Amino acid sequence: MAGVTMEKVVNLCKRRGFVFPGSEIYGGLGTSLDYGPLGVELKRNVKEAWWRAVVTSREDVVGIDAAIIMHPRVWEASGHLAGFSDPLVDCKSCKQRFRADHVEGGRCPACGGELTEPRQFNLMFKTYVGPVEDTAAIAYLRPETAQGIFVNFRNVLETSRLKIPFGIAQIGKSFRNEITPGNFLFRMREFEQMELEFFVRPGDDEHWYDYWREERLRWYLDLGIRRERLRLRAHGPGELAHYAKSCADVEYEFPFGWSELEGIANRTDFDLRRHAEFSGKDLTYFDEERRERYLPYVIEPSAGADRSALAFLVDAYDEDEAEGEPRTVLRLHPKLAPCKAAVFPLLRRDGLPERARRIYDDLRRRFAVDYDQAGSIGRRYRRQDEIGTPFGITVDHQTLRDGTVTLRDRDSMTQVRIAEDRLVDELGARIG
Ligand code: GAP
Repeated sequence: MAGVTMEKVVNLCKRRGFVFPGSEIYGGLGTSLDYGPLGVELKRNVKEAWWRAVVTSREDVVGIDAAIIMHPRVWEASGHLAGFSDPLVDCKSCKQRFRADHVEGGRCPACGGELTEPRQFNLMFKTYVGPVEDTAAIAYLRPETAQGIFVNFRNVLETSRLKIPFGIAQIGKSFRNEITPGNFLFRMREFEQMELEFFVRPGDDEHWYDYWREERLRWYLDLGIRRERLRLRAHGPGELAHYAKSCADVEYEFPFGWSELEGIANRTDFDLRRHAEFSGKDLTYFDEERRERYLPYVIEPSAGADRSALAFLVDAYDEDEAEGEPRTVLRLHPKLAPCKAAVFPLLRRDGLPERARRIYDDLRRRFAVDYDQAGSIGRRYRRQDEIGTPFGITVDHQTLRDGTVTLRDRDSMTQVRIAEDRLVDELGARIG
């Protein structure tokens, strides 16, 4: 992984407006982060690529968008109230708090002081619904989007003509009071998940578990992640979440080591069974073909939009040379790039800016594009390379004569001449 460090990626993100420290003018809030103009486009493109692959391009998956604050009984049924916790120790001297499994030698890592016995600390954010702050009004910000899907299983079943196997997908914010957030977008207290709950007949679960592991690994590869920095790792028995029969993680080799991008779990019928028990509602499915009634099993690919965005950024980051000068380039897949093309007039005279702006206005209706006439053409190319813009379109004197422009490719830096009225089709084809 020569070349790329987290520091370089974080600096680029701040410098170019991908990601800012949250509440920065007040000194920041822990490690909260805000997406800037380019970051928001990147993340939207990640979510759009996921939604296309998992929902709209398939006939067996539909989407929902459930509330973040759900009935508190949901979290009793799901096991999160009792079990979604980390063991914590407090330092008796400096009062700092640490995850017990992150402390070595039994002393405070900050000051060497004596530590308390470990206590369980629930990771869910608590809040109150309505004007009265008493125990009857306690609610939680969801720590996963999955439960919004399980509690709507019957609604979706009754209002669609889906038959098992089928899936329900959701993208949305989740909240966890992480003890040690960090590594930039990797671990935050507020983050976005992209989750699919795929309901299958018990007995078919192993087949679909294998299917979704392969399918999800391929998604990252299709969007350009290097094969050698991606792997599937099966969980050992001691690692499994309370609801899972088996689980495998898609891991990426970040500069800080191999880390989870996504978990694919066989959740069995755990969730539907618990919600049926706690709500008293029948959540079984009648399989008309087989003439049998059962509680479906669930295969769950659960990914993070922020973690994926970080992996795409890290993987795309590169440094090389252009015309004898060092350049930083983000080799983002065109589908993910925040800006698809930039239009440049070669000079700021002779009618070139006017012609370039006309092309820009035309392309803007179809694609996210940029217009730049400030500085030398080399500098303008490099500004776009640094934010991952895959194509550069330059308007020069020949354009005025024959209506052609140059189309430059970010990665190879080669240029071809092309008629300006072919640009929309050409860009469409290259972006895919
Ligand atoms: N419904 C299952 C579930 O929530 P998880 O492994 O706890 O499983 C799934 O989370 C994914 O959500 C992770 O693989 C990661 O991409 C993302 N994620 C979890 N915690 C996160 C955090 N604190 N910051 C950013 N992303 C997080």
